[in-house]
Amino acid sequence: MRRMRRLPGDPSEERQIARMIRVDHAGEYGAKRIYQGQLAVLGHSRAAADIRRMADQEERHLAAFDKLVRERRVRPTALSPLWHVAGFALGAATAMLGERAAMACTVAVEEVIDAHYQRQIEALGDAEPELKSTLEEFRANEIEHRDTARARGGDTGPMPLSMAIKAGSRLAIWLSTRI
Ligand SMILES: [Fe+2]
Ligand SMILES: [Fe+2]
Repeated sequence: MRRMRRLPGDPSEERQIARMIRVDHAGEYGAKRIYQGQLAVLGHSRAAADIRRMADQEERHLAAFDKLVRERRVRPTALSPLWHVAGFALGAATAMLGERAAMACTVAVEEVIDAHYQRQIEALGDAEPELKSTLEEFRANEIEHRDTARARGGDTGPMPLSMAIKAGSRLAIWLSTRI
């Protein structure tokens, strides 16, 4: 049987996969809420079509993890009420600062998600080929989202904002893996 790369002291493979699915499910939910928050403010702006397209992809990602959570009986994160509110608030608040701040938020979040999926893909090694190809596909979408936001000025937003959002996203990942 193909196995994951494991270090001494790591939880069992089954537990590690469950954690991956839990955190990814939470992350895609948070992403959906961020884009919904952006659309609540920027739904009639020039960026609306791009944001809507990204939001639709996050819905598709979320649906895939919803299915995985059910099929594999993974306990979803207990923090989804928090991500429901925090994701939307983050998307809406940055959008209220303007389109560039909203795009800076997207760049920051998608950069963290790109690295996160990359780490999971590496950790899987030869194990779980189907899950791995899902992660690879979604990671490619997240990179596209990052690039779309960059093309809309996402790299010119306020740096402290990007750093705070990245720190928050990493904390959300850490928490959703465990809780
Ligand atoms: Fe996604
Ligand atoms: Fe995304």
